[in-house]
Amino acid sequence: AKGAAMVTAVAYRLTEQARQIQQTLAEFRLSKTQLLEVKKRMKVEIERGLKKESHKEATVKMLPTFVRSTPDGTENGDFLALDLGGTNFRVLLVKIRSGKRRTVEMHNKIYAIPIEVMQGTGEELFDHIVHCISDFLDYMGMKSARLPLGFTFSFPCHQTSLDAGILVTWTKGFKATDCEGEDVVELLRDAIKRKEEFELDVVAIVNDTVGTMMTCAYEDPTCEVGLIAGTGSNACYMEEMKNIEIVDGKEGRMCVNMEWGAFGDNGCLDDIRTKYDQAVDENSLNEGKQRYEKMCSGMYLGEIVRQILIDLTKRGFLFRGQISETLKTRGIFETKFLSQIESDRLALLQVRAILQQLGLDSTCDDSIIVKEVCGTVSRRAAQICGAGMAAVVDKIRENRGLDHLDVTVGVDGTLYKLHPHFSRIFHQTVKDLAPKCDVNFLLSEDGSGKGAALITAVGCRQRELDAQ
Ligand code: GLC
Repeated sequence: AKGAAMVTAVAYRLTEQARQIQQTLAEFRLSKTQLLEVKKRMKVEIERGLKKESHKEATVKMLPTFVRSTPDGTENGDFLALDLGGTNFRVLLVKIRSGKRRTVEMHNKIYAIPIEVMQGTGEELFDHIVHCISDFLDYMGMKSARLPLGFTFSFPCHQTSLDAGILVTWTKGFKATDCEGEDVVELLRDAIKRKEEFELDVVAIVNDTVGTMMTCAYEDPTCEVGLIAGTGSNACYMEEMKNIEIVDGKEGRMCVNMEWGAFGDNGCLDDIRTKYDQAVDENSLNEGKQRYEKMCSGMYLGEIVRQILIDLTKRGFLFRGQISETLKTRGIFETKFLSQIESDRLALLQVRAILQQLGLDSTCDDSIIVKEVCGTVSRRAAQICGAGMAAVVDKIRENRGLDHLDVTVGVDGTLYKLHPHFSRIFHQTVKDLAPKCDVNFLLSEDGSGKGAALITAVGCRQRELDAQ
């Protein structure tokens, strides 16, 4: 009888443990009503960002990009492109040829940006960038060419023209001093002058979302939206000029860089943010900022997972109650690990092997729980990202007074491309929440590089027209 009682006690403890874990994860499982609410709030913030009287306080900034049209195939020439702000820093040479057989040829080199440089002084950061350009030009044997350059700079910039952008605030892992409030094109030009080795013609500053949209639009003219689901999260789309109140002119359209990562910074998502989201925010370089991005982008998903695992361990449900040094280490769960852990083809034993690689000793039960935590966190990410996208496509549909809209979204980003479930759940959510839109998703091949070159080409052409 005693033995039976003990077995019952153990079983009770196990079910109680399972119940508590489920209760913890329940907060991450959003209902359709909640997701529709997220979509609705995104719509409200979009309007705030666009309207003159509310633009200043708005959290979703809706920044004008001065990109007025998608490419038309007549773009031509050799361009240099820089790509800063994604997983890698790259310098590229892009050769675009127009005509019957349009071609785009690209050469690129990846450079590391050491963390000291990302978080040092602005001058050091830009000197480092110019140093890399110099190396690249040597490598390509093109130092004397004075090429037109497009700068993909994936941070919020307040643009007053195609080639001027004042950095509003750093996001993601960057924190170099003396850059916020400055025109980053000028910072780049100054650094090129300091180096005195080569000349470049900086024609355009481009957000990665815009580069992605343009790259996809080059293949498919119905592409009028760009999405990045990677280290950061953001979108852009073609908005009616008459709705962009902070820019003069009412005719035609302009691409707006939404900077939707900041959605929620006014507290409007507080009811769905969990204590784990708050902990991630408190541990970040930019507390209180980019709250939506911190719930749905690659840089932070692993951190949310880590916070949950720490809590479950403290409560004795995981890792024998022992919080290891590894678990205390920020940034251990990179997107690629989460993607591996959630891969359906992986046996639990392999999940344990991955955890082992990260320095976490797990039992079989632990690995089941870890996998479920990862799945729950990434599902919510894909869903709230989908809710944001549903708001965007419905906004475009309403702008055009249509009952039904067919639209293509150009997409890039490591989370979207690498994760085994993110894209599928994201697509499904957009479909569920924006039933009046038929949304086609197009993967962009190297949007940041190609797109910057295409925008630079359009910019050069415009300048020639203006000069006539
Ligand atoms: C961050 C940046 C934004 C960029 C996004 C994706 O949200 O603020 O400009 O587009 O990351 O890289």
